[in-house]
Amino acid sequence: MCGIVGYLGSQSAVPILLNCLKQLEYRGYDSAGIAILNGDDLTVAKSAGKISFLENMLQEEGIPESHVGIGHTRWATQVRPTDLNSPPDTGCTSNFAVVHNGIIENYQAIKEWLQKEGHSFVSETDAEVLPHLVEHFYQGDLETAVLEVINRVEGSYAMMVFTHKEPRKLVAARKDSPLIMGLGEKEYFLASDIPAILSYTRQAYILEDGEVAVLKPEGAYILDWKGLPVDKAIFKVEWDAAAAEKAGYDHFMRKEMHEQPRALKDTLSSRISLDNRYVQLNEVSLTPQQIKDFTRIKMVGCGTAYHAGIVGKYLIEKLVRIPVEVDIASEFRYRDPLLDERTLVVVISQSGETADTLAALREAKRKGARVLAVTNVVGSSISREADDVLYTWAGPEIAVASTKAYTTQLICMYLLGLYLAQVRRTLSEEEIATMITHLRQLPQQVQMILNREQQIKKLAETYTRSELENIFFIGRGLDYAVAMEGSLKLKEITYIHAEAYAAGELKHGTFALIEEGFPIIALGTQESLLEKTVNNVKELKARGATVIGLALKGDTQLQECVDEIIYLPRTHNDLTSILAVIPLQLLAYYAAVTRGTNVDQPRNLTKAVTVE
Ligand code: F6R
Repeated sequence: MCGIVGYLGSQSAVPILLNCLKQLEYRGYDSAGIAILNGDDLTVAKSAGKISFLENMLQEEGIPESHVGIGHTRWATQVRPTDLNSPPDTGCTSNFAVVHNGIIENYQAIKEWLQKEGHSFVSETDAEVLPHLVEHFYQGDLETAVLEVINRVEGSYAMMVFTHKEPRKLVAARKDSPLIMGLGEKEYFLASDIPAILSYTRQAYILEDGEVAVLKPEGAYILDWKGLPVDKAIFKVEWDAAAAEKAGYDHFMRKEMHEQPRALKDTLSSRISLDNRYVQLNEVSLTPQQIKDFTRIKMVGCGTAYHAGIVGKYLIEKLVRIPVEVDIASEFRYRDPLLDERTLVVVISQSGETADTLAALREAKRKGARVLAVTNVVGSSISREADDVLYTWAGPEIAVASTKAYTTQLICMYLLGLYLAQVRRTLSEEEIATMITHLRQLPQQVQMILNREQQIKKLAETYTRSELENIFFIGRGLDYAVAMEGSLKLKEITYIHAEAYAAGELKHGTFALIEEGFPIIALGTQESLLEKTVNNVKELKARGATVIGLALKGDTQLQECVDEIIYLPRTHNDLTSILAVIPLQLLAYYAAVTRGTNVDQPRNLTKAVTVE
């Protein structure tokens, strides 16, 4: 991550590469670099920090003349953003340069193998295996070497590579990470995102998974993973630059909801063993003994992050049989919480900069607790001050309403729960492997729900028109935790008053508010609790409420007593939250669109709350 670009043509490559990278700056990054062909030399310039550092560096040294090159702005995920870890990467001989977006899941195994073959590595990145692999397989033809490489790497990638041995060629490939080829007048562009190239061309090929692009001055073509030619239609970009940043989506929120399958996969992938039998949290330095010694866990966060902590509580208490408390960070920091060195405090924060969460982290450390941060931003204050960090690899989240950060936080809760259960032996190997099988299916199942967004759009248009003032979300167990997130999403971007209730709690007061037509969203994904939830829904219906139900595919119990039903794919019952929240995000989104509110920047709110 986060943006990669490439150029081959008759113009000077460096200014074009820098300009293309700048168009992707809005996505966030912490290091930048380019590699170009300077005469016969392959020249690399890279540094931690902003593109302007790189630009100054190049200007001081004199911008070399070049007609082919690649560039990268990387938002470090797995490693620290240092000069050495900055892209592009080169092999041992510096004959090849590569930029890569995504995660190479089997990089450790490949790296060990390459080291035995005599390759030496200079960075900590997974991407560095790519130029070494190309170097290993290169026998005079770059595209053949790239085909060999993509048949060996697992994970997600959009990569670009060139070599001074074939100075008139640039090769790129993709799987599960976006890549486009822009078509100019006798010049070609590569980019991870359309906005990068819009000032040069509006015609592009959008590469599909497994495809390889080969660019030469006399023409460009696309191959499939077997090396066979692919016929592709040219995509004409009709959007303006601002819209293009949203990749054609109307709002960042919708784009980010649709990025969830990729984000979930990235967050999961390298933390699961290749045989799908166990969870490996290599970045967490807790020893097995420390994990066994913990007597309790505290989850701390604000807003959506706090809601992720509630899912974590339900799950970890069940899987690990250890008491878990969840606190709102602004409460935790002032209530003199009971903590000691046998307490694990998990602070959750997308931005890693939320003032209350940071203060809670400091309070926890002051009292001797061990702090594990779950955050999306490498180098953020929270990531720097925590004892351990588990990153959500969601990529930059720009919409104020959090979507992909929340679902990737849930993945981290699942991974943490399974990891602790593994070490403390509260689950059998078979139980862990079964849950991993289900975890692996989640990205695709999320995609299935996103594919049905038109159904949710219609529901939003029918039930959330401007006259709607109040709505309740109800559920039990994990469904209650998701109901909280669903109601927050709706209220923050539509300004509808939304509340979440534990379904069994309604009759203790809230029932008084129910009257004819009162809208309720009822979550019924927890099979052991379904009968109870169905009874609560019947009580609501008897008082005139209008109920939209959320149930697992095949359910008839809930469906029979609600006005509308949204079905979710089936998964392990402890993992339904991640699926259940997707229709609620979509509902909030389409309700906001229907009501004409500012989806990405709701009134009075800001993305990172860095003040108390
Ligand atoms: C809601 C939302 C907020 C944040 C909260 C914490 O959609 O985004 O509730 O979750 O402000 O922010 P982070 O996670 O950055 O600490």
